[in-house]
Order: sequence, then structure tokens, then C-alpha cells
Amino acid sequence: MLTDNHGRKINYLRLAVTDRCNLRCFYCMPEDGLNWLSRSDLLTYEEMLYICSLLVKMGIEKIRITGGEPFVRKDIMQLLASLSALRGLNELTLTTNGVLTAPFVPELKRIGVNSVNLSLDTLDANRFFAIAKRDEFAKVMETFEQLLKYDIEVKINAVVMDGKNTQDIIPLVGLTKDMPVSVRFIEEMPFNGDGHTYTGLEWNYKRILDEIRQKYPDITKLTDSPYSTSHNYQIPNHKGSIGVIAAYSRTFCGTCNRIRITPEGELKTCLYDAGVLNIRNLIRNGATDADLQNALLKAFSHRHKNGWEAEQSRSGNTSAHESMATIGG
Ligand code: 5AD
Ligand code: SF4
Repeated sequence: MLTDNHGRKINYLRLAVTDRCNLRCFYCMPEDGLNWLSRSDLLTYEEMLYICSLLVKMGIEKIRITGGEPFVRKDIMQLLASLSALRGLNELTLTTNGVLTAPFVPELKRIGVNSVNLSLDTLDANRFFAIAKRDEFAKVMETFEQLLKYDIEVKINAVVMDGKNTQDIIPLVGLTKDMPVSVRFIEEMPFNGDGHTYTGLEWNYKRILDEIRQKYPDITKLTDSPYSTSHNYQIPNHKGSIGVIAAYSRTFCGTCNRIRITPEGELKTCLYDAGVLNIRNLIRNGATDADLQNALLKAFSHRHKNGWEAEQSRSGNTSAHESMATIGG
């Protein structure tokens, strides 16, 4: 079993396969995009597979593929299929914006992807356009339908943004009435890629919950699984459930079981750190399995206690310049 210097189990890897995206959600990246990484900077699929197989041998049990948008990277299904065959990996999942995903749903099911996180901040096509700057709402909804049809568990991720989509909170909760989905509301984090300064959080998890409680006073708390980042609830007689993720308030660091690898192969042991080890460079400089394993173990034994400490450790205030597209959420 892998543990860190605070006694926390590490068994979950989030692997971001590209920084590119076909949407421009304003909380994630500027409308004209980012300075995209060049292809040679990206981990190759071969390198990803190698790192993942090593990490699975070391104790990683669950891998989530993120981006950017995973499906804008060529042949992503190839990587997913290879990962799904890794012995010792219990769960392979992904997070997608759903624009290109619908045609791949049957194949996802076939290779054993049983749960997908779909980013969907609004149920209104106009607001979708205002938030994501691209007119792709219909395609996202098509992906949603396909996932349900193929009996893949769907978790909807909705970032709650003051003045942008708070009127969607109740309609999104409404989805849980007849559909077996988990709708998760996420506090907005300061990773918007354009460096605009961040003046506190209008909608923290308590306010989001209060808003839901006003309409559904009988909302009940569910038992959260041990490593859950969401506080989970259900409305009596609804099929689905509701989660609130305190991504900014950072209520879940004490049980954090996850590490991240960025598209350039940078290891992050916290969402809020600036990267603690470049795995790609090690591999390309000829590191052996043992070298890499030792470097990883060393990084795991120097983990920050929580996201506040990790954020403080960054030199200068660089967090606001970083985009979620290079972190993977
Ligand atoms: N704050 C909170 N969540 C974000 N995401 C992307 N950028 C931000 C941000 N600034 C979410 C996306 C996606 C997940 C990977 O991260 O909505 O669902
Ligand atoms: Fe793309 Fe996701 Fe960022 Fe939106 S939040 S721009 S869908 S990577």
C-alpha cells in the first residue's frame, strides 16, 4: 500500500492527457485559448502507459483520464483500451465535456469504463454559450443520453459561478428526480488561465447547499465514502443524488488519496501545488524503473498537509495564471 508522510493512503491517479480543449469555459481558460503545449512536450501514450503500469504496481488502484478535453487528443481510445487491460487496476474513469464523446460511448462500455464525469454547468443552451463560448450544448446532451442508455454511471460536474449559472442549481437538482445521476456542484477555483485576480468566493459549499435546501427542505445527508471529495445528499424519492464539492474551501484534504500528472508529465501531489517532479524528463533521460520508483516515493513522502499549505509553497502568486486545462481538475 502507498502512503504519504501524513499517513494518507494514495491509490488514485488523475492523468491529464492534453491541455487542449474545444470549449472555452471562462473559469478555465481565456477565449483565445492558452499557449498550447507542443507535441514534443506532451507525454506520449507509450510513456503514459509505462508510468501508469509502474504506479499500479506501486499501489494505484484507480485512474481517471482528464484534460483539457481527453477526446481532442488523437486516438484516445487506444490509450484507454491499453489502460483498461492493466492488471491490478480496479477502476478506469474519465472526465469529459461531452462534445465529441457520444460516438465513443459503446466502446467505453465495452472496455469497462463504468463511470464518466460529464462537465455540464447549465441546462440552458444560451447560458451554455455564454459560459463555454461554443455552441455545443446539443452534443453534450447527446452524450448524456448515450451514457444513460449504455448504463454507464454519470456524474455531472457543475461549477457554480456567481452571476452566470446560479439559476441552474435547482433545475440541475431536478435531473436527479427521474435519472440515476449524481449532480455535483463545484466551488469555483482560481485556475482560469488568464491571471485575473480572485476576490474571494461568492458561492461556497454552504451557500450552494442553502440554495438547494430552500427549495427542498427535506434533503437528507448520505454517508460519504471514505475518500469522497463531495458532501453527498439526496432528496427523498429522487433516483439520483447531489454532491457539493468544496474545491476552494478544501474541506477534504485530510483524506486526500489522489495524485495528478499533467500533460507534460509533471507530478502534482496536490491540486494546489506547482508540480513536484517532472516524470517525463526522468524517463527521457534514461531513468530505470527503480530510479523512477524512488523519485516517486520521495515525492510522496514530502506531500503538503493540505491545499492551503501547497498553495503557499508556490513561489509568487502563480495560481491564477494556471489553467485547469493543464491540471485536469
Ligand atoms: N473551478 C472549479 N472547477 C473547475 N473545473 C475546471 N475549471 C474549474 C475551476 N476554475 C472543472 C470542470 C470539470 C472538472 C475537471 O473541473 O468543470 O468538470
Ligand atoms: Fe474545456 Fe473543461 Fe476547461 Fe471547459 S473546463 S474549457 S470543457 S477543459
